[in-house]
Amino acid sequence: MSRKPIIAGNWKMFKTVSEAASFFADVKGKAEVDGVESVICAPFTALPSLVEAAKGTTIAIGAQNLHFEDNGAFTGEISGVMLKDLGVKYVIIGHSERRAYFAETDEIVSKKVHAAFKNDLTPIVCVGEKLEEREAGETKNVCSVQTVAAFQGLSASQAAEVVVAYEPIWAIGTGKSSTSEDAQDVIGYIRSVIAGLYDDATAAAVRIQYGGSVKPNNVAEYMGQQDIDGALVGGASLEPASYIALIEGAK
Ligand code: 13P
Repeated sequence: MSRKPIIAGNWKMFKTVSEAASFFADVKGKAEVDGVESVICAPFTALPSLVEAAKGTTIAIGAQNLHFEDNGAFTGEISGVMLKDLGVKYVIIGHSERRAYFAETDEIVSKKVHAAFKNDLTPIVCVGEKLEEREAGETKNVCSVQTVAAFQGLSASQAAEVVVAYEPIWAIGTGKSSTSEDAQDVIGYIRSVIAGLYDDATAAAVRIQYGGSVKPNNVAEYMGQQDIDGALVGGASLEPASYIALIEGAK
């Protein structure tokens, strides 16, 4: 089963509309490489112009969150219906920053995954352990619980479409990346959890990224591991040259 590598930039709360436009103009044509899927997950405000700019390119645009209801009295929230209407393709769900700062639980993550599928958005579901969980030997257990919750109620064909991002929290924005061997060990385990929920063929179709201090100079090392299908990248996705180098490095 060959899985297409997928590099996704998670801009987090960075870039105005004009900064996003300037970034896109710089990466257009260059962050488009045969055999690698290139995704930019931007703040909501930059999505309409990025979707427009990305037309006719192979770069996909993603959001970083959605509400699980289609509409309603949820001040400040954005729904899957709205993202689909814009032409957004991907949505990050359950990022550790949302779990930590916005009280997102596994149950909310599951609802959001269903909302994504209902609106033809591909979820990039984040799982990963805190430092104290790693030190307590709980890494696989934590990832298993989060993975099982995220896939709850999905059909096998939906499950095969999910992108999982394994992001050890202690490696995010710290410059302390997981070794590629450790990342492979956990990601291989996550794949076995998915196989247990469905079957080997479904698990073999799911793309699983590593995230946490991925840079142009270490992306190839992760991509060399058999179960690692790409990266979810924060800081190093913000500069055009660095983003292009990440895509090139994932070939
Ligand atoms: P950094 O690449 O900045 O460590 O961030 C990782 C991340 O959280 C991507 O979602």
